[in-house]
Amino acid sequence: MCGIVGIVGNQPVSERLVNALRRLEYRGYDSAGVATIEGGALRRRRAEGKLVNLETKLKEEPLPGAIGIAHTRWATHGAPTERNAHPHFTDGVAVVHNGIIENFAEIKDELIATGAEFQTETDTEVVAQLVAKYRRDGMGRWQAMHAMLKRVRGAYALAVLFEDDPSTIMAARNGPPLAIGHGNGEMFLGSDAIALAPFTNEITYLIDGDWAVIGTTGVHIFDIDGNIATRPRQVSMAAAYLVDKGNHRHFMEKEIYEQPEVVAHALGQYVNFIDNRAAPSSNIDFAKMPSLAISACGTAYLAGLIGKYWFERYARLPVEIDVASEFRYREIPLSPQSAALFISQSGETADTLASLRYCKEHGLKIGAVVNTRESTIARESDAVFPILAGPEIGVASTKAFTCQLAVLAALAIGAGRARGTVNEEEEQVLVRSLAEMPRIMGQVLNSIQPKIELLSRELSKCRDVLYLGRGTSFPLAMEGALKLKEISYIHAEGYAAGELKHGPIALIDENMPVIVIAPHDRFFDKTVSNMQEVAARGGRIILITDGRGAAVSKLDTMHTIVLPDVDEIIAPMIFSLPVQLLAYHTAVLLGADVDQPRNLAKSVTVE
Ligand code: G6P
Repeated sequence: MCGIVGIVGNQPVSERLVNALRRLEYRGYDSAGVATIEGGALRRRRAEGKLVNLETKLKEEPLPGAIGIAHTRWATHGAPTERNAHPHFTDGVAVVHNGIIENFAEIKDELIATGAEFQTETDTEVVAQLVAKYRRDGMGRWQAMHAMLKRVRGAYALAVLFEDDPSTIMAARNGPPLAIGHGNGEMFLGSDAIALAPFTNEITYLIDGDWAVIGTTGVHIFDIDGNIATRPRQVSMAAAYLVDKGNHRHFMEKEIYEQPEVVAHALGQYVNFIDNRAAPSSNIDFAKMPSLAISACGTAYLAGLIGKYWFERYARLPVEIDVASEFRYREIPLSPQSAALFISQSGETADTLASLRYCKEHGLKIGAVVNTRESTIARESDAVFPILAGPEIGVASTKAFTCQLAVLAALAIGAGRARGTVNEEEEQVLVRSLAEMPRIMGQVLNSIQPKIELLSRELSKCRDVLYLGRGTSFPLAMEGALKLKEISYIHAEGYAAGELKHGPIALIDENMPVIVIAPHDRFFDKTVSNMQEVAARGGRIILITDGRGAAVSKLDTMHTIVLPDVDEIIAPMIFSLPVQLLAYHTAVLLGADVDQPRNLAKSVTVE
């Protein structure tokens, strides 16, 4: 989840390294650092906190040099201090690392026994110390790198500089992604192609077990046994995307407002609006499979939960779903006739990838619902369903969520047709609803802001907030709570409305707002009963409903947000909008760092 970048250049690199780091800051922002070689000496600047602190430092003390590596950190081992910030230096070896060296404690003990002195509390320092030791033992640079890779266990994307070789960066990958960029007389290295987009769009991805020796004019790639490996050079789409905030204060706000456009774009790939048919063409045949497994993390998991309701309802296809960190260890009995879907914005989440590999070992067909088509999850899948949301920079996922939902809805309808559980007429009705969705999203975004801002003022004074929903509004309630807690730091819980009386009702008093997500659907009356239970105990209800719901509910609510009446299949996407905006405006009022909330990172490449 840290971001790493490197340049083997023919002109100064430190400013360019920092610019590339800015594009990787979504991976972590606890500290940052850069190292270069100039005049035969390794030098570095490091700073605690956001990248801007490193930039300030570099202005005061510039770092010359035409070769360098840099890092933005999401701390795993050791506090996010300057001392623990990468690059780590040991005897002429500099290292930046993304991942976790699992056997670092054992290696550290061994090295200390032979006299090594450690300067940090990180797992990464063992990499620098090991390579330095192998060099002292007489090994050449390549040999020392290879010997180190044979010794460490765990997940890593690594970049290594040697003081006695100012023209080469060595890199290695096992787990977290690593892209090598081919430039004009210069070569680049980065955690993703977006970081390298200003420099080049010609990319070679390393695969697990690979290590590479990168010079100014090219790269030699080897597998873990030291054999020469050939990896394709491809043209990355990343450069096509503009990564800026436009007229918005935050990326999150921009991404919320982009939803009508990106959702329309995503739907266009999965739905034929001329004859109103869901047209997901893929090599996954939903027709005969006994069940479907879905696994993901965070917001992507909650999209998957909504997908489960749709696959079960429209395609009568039983769905086994769990968060990836549990899924991978549950030893779920899986049938090779089944398929598995993995949902991931980044396509790199370590637990999701591990669940994918587990299912692959069990012979299941693998589908990936991803935003990053060049990602590991996409590459290891039999069928890729891109969500086409464009780069999502805000750590709190918004547009990726609704695009994931749009794709899952289309897949569920297509599966229903394939399984004979949705007839042509039903399919056309459902697809027509999907086609309406971008327009309604635009209408909602244009109208609800004043109400949301008013409400956010109330929420910003609360310590706890409860979100309730039934059916597909239950995962959405969890998503609402997740959004609020991750960016505003207000404690929030999402519950199935029917579970209220089994515990959370004990918390209800006049201080705790209860946000009820209740479109006028099949469950509306039941949810209203649950709201009565809240009202009877003095709880303050914020009802998010539609015109029909507002007309029939006789409840005394603190606030009611009224959305347009929409068909059930698109309600989760439409109701996502107030949920996202509420979290956003509350966090802004509280002065929180909306795009980079504390302790979080967007791409989680460690377990
Ligand atoms: C992190 C992010 C979330 C995201 C989750 C899964 O926790 O902060 O926004 O939902 O990872 O990430 P993925 O890239 O697999 O969708």
